[in-house]
Amino acid sequence: MKYSLKEILDVAEEGGFAVPAFNVYNLETLMGVAKAAEETQAPIIIQMYSRLFNTGTGEFMAPTIKYVMNKLKTPIAFHLDHGAGIPECIRAMRFGTTSVMIDASTLPIDRNIETTKKVVDMAKEAGISVEGELGHIGSTKDEKWDAYTETDDAVRYVNETGIDALAIMVGTAHGKYAQAPVLAIDRIAEIHSQTKAHLVLHGGSGVPDDQIKAAVNAGIRKINFGTDVCYAFMDAYKELDPYSAPLDVTMSKVAENVKEFAIEKIKLLGACKIQ
Ligand code: 13P
Ligand code: ZN
Repeated sequence: MKYSLKEILDVAEEGGFAVPAFNVYNLETLMGVAKAAEETQAPIIIQMYSRLFNTGTGEFMAPTIKYVMNKLKTPIAFHLDHGAGIPECIRAMRFGTTSVMIDASTLPIDRNIETTKKVVDMAKEAGISVEGELGHIGSTKDEKWDAYTETDDAVRYVNETGIDALAIMVGTAHGKYAQAPVLAIDRIAEIHSQTKAHLVLHGGSGVPDDQIKAAVNAGIRKINFGTDVCYAFMDAYKELDPYSAPLDVTMSKVAENVKEFAIEKIKLLGACKIQ
């Protein structure tokens, strides 16, 4: 069932759980996460990085994602992840996303607010929800990643932009961690108590289960998984005997592994709707 990001995260806020946002890259990763949602009856967010819309993969994937939104009975949102600017957000909307992320987090706060607000004003006209980012969430390869989002800045950013969801820097980064991260759980709770926007945790891959649970308890409502989706695909792919069967048969094992991974995360986040 087609949901906007705001609608799906409102459900999570009410239920005190988080919705997993899975980055998809091809048909097998999409089929894996869709089957996981179907089996668990969980709400999920299917998202793609901006480059996939730019390189044409998104053009092929978007109609199938829209088909999944219409076919499944559980709430599904289709989201642009890390949109770099207004053109990227418009392009994703044209492909049928129900929400976009504008990532102006490397800009000073005033310019971040200005850019984000432009996207919010435009998206509102189209009934599209918006996620913004305040406090840059970088890569695990960066030297330093401890500049947490300040609560006062978050309050100002949410009030002045009118965003629906807010990605905050609380100790995570994108990619594979050399060492398990320790999240700023108190900061999450403080920002959650003072802002209306739904809070988003990026860099979910490799975060220990107890940290994920604590983050959800403190108020995180969307958790992004990208790297782990790739690993679930590749771990199964490298075990295959590529010439043993037709391609659709061998690749179904890969989609199955992505599904198993997604079910694990759905349960961890409290989003599973079956016993
Ligand atoms: P990971 O690849 O570290 O899971 O991060 C995903 C993400 O935050 C996508 O925006
Ligand atoms: Zn991210």
